[in-house]
Amino acid sequence: MQLVDTHVHINFDSFQGDLDAVALRWRQAGVAWLVHSCVEPSEFSQIQSLANRFSELSFAVGLHPLDAEKWTEHSAKEILALAQQDRRIVAIGEMGLDFYKASNREQQEVVFKAQLEIASQLDLPVIIHCRDAVAPMVELMQAFWQHQGSVQGVMHCWGGNPEETQLFLDLGLYISFSGTVTFKNARSIQASAQMVPSDRILVETDCPFLAPVPKRGERRNEPAYVRHVAEKVAQLRQTSLETLALQTTQNACRLFNLPLLDQGLPIFSAENASLT
Ligand code: NI
Repeated sequence: MQLVDTHVHINFDSFQGDLDAVALRWRQAGVAWLVHSCVEPSEFSQIQSLANRFSELSFAVGLHPLDAEKWTEHSAKEILALAQQDRRIVAIGEMGLDFYKASNREQQEVVFKAQLEIASQLDLPVIIHCRDAVAPMVELMQAFWQHQGSVQGVMHCWGGNPEETQLFLDLGLYISFSGTVTFKNARSIQASAQMVPSDRILVETDCPFLAPVPKRGERRNEPAYVRHVAEKVAQLRQTSLETLALQTTQNACRLFNLPLLDQGLPIFSAENASLT
């Protein structure tokens, strides 16, 4: 059984001390691939070194909505250039809208739209963060799809109800569930996990945040725990862990164009990954 953790932040400080042990645990748990997210372009070289260290790591480059104030007139060019620098870049993000913790709506929308344009130009999928912003996000994306064409992507760490989920499915997006789907009071997220078509569902940890049940008490989440997310989602969908793992892994490979796993072996390695 192979799983893909489609959203990690193992460059964060909390992983500094024991990353080899963390990697051993994700390999033991069947996590065959990881997609590393990016909250700001300055993380690029750090994430790139992690991809040199762990051959099963692909990554993204982008600017998080809660860092939207860091966007400058050079940011679009910077992200575009970085995204073309390394073939292990599989997505632009994470990007999106977050009106739960910030109210700079206009700035966030400018930054979000600019990154959709980069993804569209490079024909890469986007990793989307959406909090308290479903209606404006759907509106913005519908307009973008209509005028500039649709973009592939995933609603990451999805916390919406089934009606909201349907809006993003209608936009052609994938839906990724994290540890929040395992939480006791997460009825509407669980209902969403039951209605996403099997060719559009993904799993992730969003580590080091949001450790799933039964690890919720732990201060730090880690990629191995994506298995607990997958188990919960499989149970909700009345299917086996093996089936859910196969579906979500195929979906992750399709969306992110991940180097296909042939009998557990990656087709390319870090040595030939750099284009420059
Ligand atoms: Ni994230």
